[in-house]
Amino acid sequence: MDKLVEKFKAFYHAAPTAGGEAPGRLEILGNHTDYNQGFVLSCAVGNTTAFVLRPVDGQVCRVKDFRDGSEKSFDLDAIDRATPRDWSNYIKGVIVELRKRGIEIPAFEAGMESTVPLSAGMSSSAALETAAGFAFAGGFGVKLDQADWARVGQGVENNYMGLKTGLLDQFSSIFGRRDSMILSDFRTVEVLRTVPLPAGFSIVVVNSMVKHNLVDSEYNVRRLDCESAAAKLAQIFPDVKTLRDVSLEQLAQAEPALERREFRRALHVVGECTRVQEAVRILENGDAAGFGRLWFESHESSRVNFENSTPELDYLVELAKSLPGCLGARLSGGGFGGITIHLVESALAGEYAGRIAAGYKIRTGIEPECIICAIGDGARTFNF
Ligand code: GLA
Repeated sequence: MDKLVEKFKAFYHAAPTAGGEAPGRLEILGNHTDYNQGFVLSCAVGNTTAFVLRPVDGQVCRVKDFRDGSEKSFDLDAIDRATPRDWSNYIKGVIVELRKRGIEIPAFEAGMESTVPLSAGMSSSAALETAAGFAFAGGFGVKLDQADWARVGQGVENNYMGLKTGLLDQFSSIFGRRDSMILSDFRTVEVLRTVPLPAGFSIVVVNSMVKHNLVDSEYNVRRLDCESAAAKLAQIFPDVKTLRDVSLEQLAQAEPALERREFRRALHVVGECTRVQEAVRILENGDAAGFGRLWFESHESSRVNFENSTPELDYLVELAKSLPGCLGARLSGGGFGGITIHLVESALAGEYAGRIAAGYKIRTGIEPECIICAIGDGARTFNF
């Protein structure tokens, strides 16, 4: 944050008055369960996005991205719609979502910086939405509950960007706790508890560097599949509102009433909710190996049932099974490319990252990005 403030001063010849800093996140277990009102184990990471600003007169806002030197400006009277391939959409979208809640953000000059890998599955967009929102909270006295800030960010994705995501990304970026995973319930929208990683283990993130170009439409179609499966299940079991309410036994019983595709999508989501609960239970007994097995099971279910994996992600998970020190690996986040996460003995993590990168490069010709991930705190507001 201090460095960003210095860069801001050098660039704008004035000091910022407020800022926000928000981390990326990792989905540890609980894939595509959030919009089914299910359970997720997630964490905030040490990689963050920082955003600082000062108010200015008029209607035009300027934002400088010190990561790559690019700059955007926009008129507050002309931001009703997103513009194609424009990172400032995530800032304009926040202003538009706040407007819907009766809150006007005046003009500002801003600077930002980030260490969250872009478009990889670590929620760089949620980090930017949250950092900007928290800077608005500090600079313009906007008061919202923490969970409502997460809803603002989700609103940007759903309404401004057209991606029908759940609350996981912004929620984890806001509620993350240093050195712990958080167990969240997306029906009540609350953190139920923190859960420590097994002692002596680290998370290694391996970015496949490959992403399908139809990610957004694939994501939205998966969500529709889940909703149509839930609607059919509700006809058989009246207490069912979302897939969160369905047990594996009920799903097996209702299989003939569902299309094959709906059944497999539902099996993934119900299985993921079950695995999250199971993980919390077995971690209480210190069973790191059992926790890792759930990661492999989760990935297999993504590959077979939810079909949100890719050959590159599958290969990284296969490699993980053959390397020493790794107890489990899976794709993390929306899928269709991006990252895998690996549960690795901390003492071997550096060596593991080198080996998996080498193996992946030999097979695909691609140099993956590997991060031995620190688990960080959630978002903060700064007043200068
Ligand atoms: C993306 C979405 C989240 C969540 C995950 C899958 O990250 O933004 O809301 O659905 O995919 O668990």
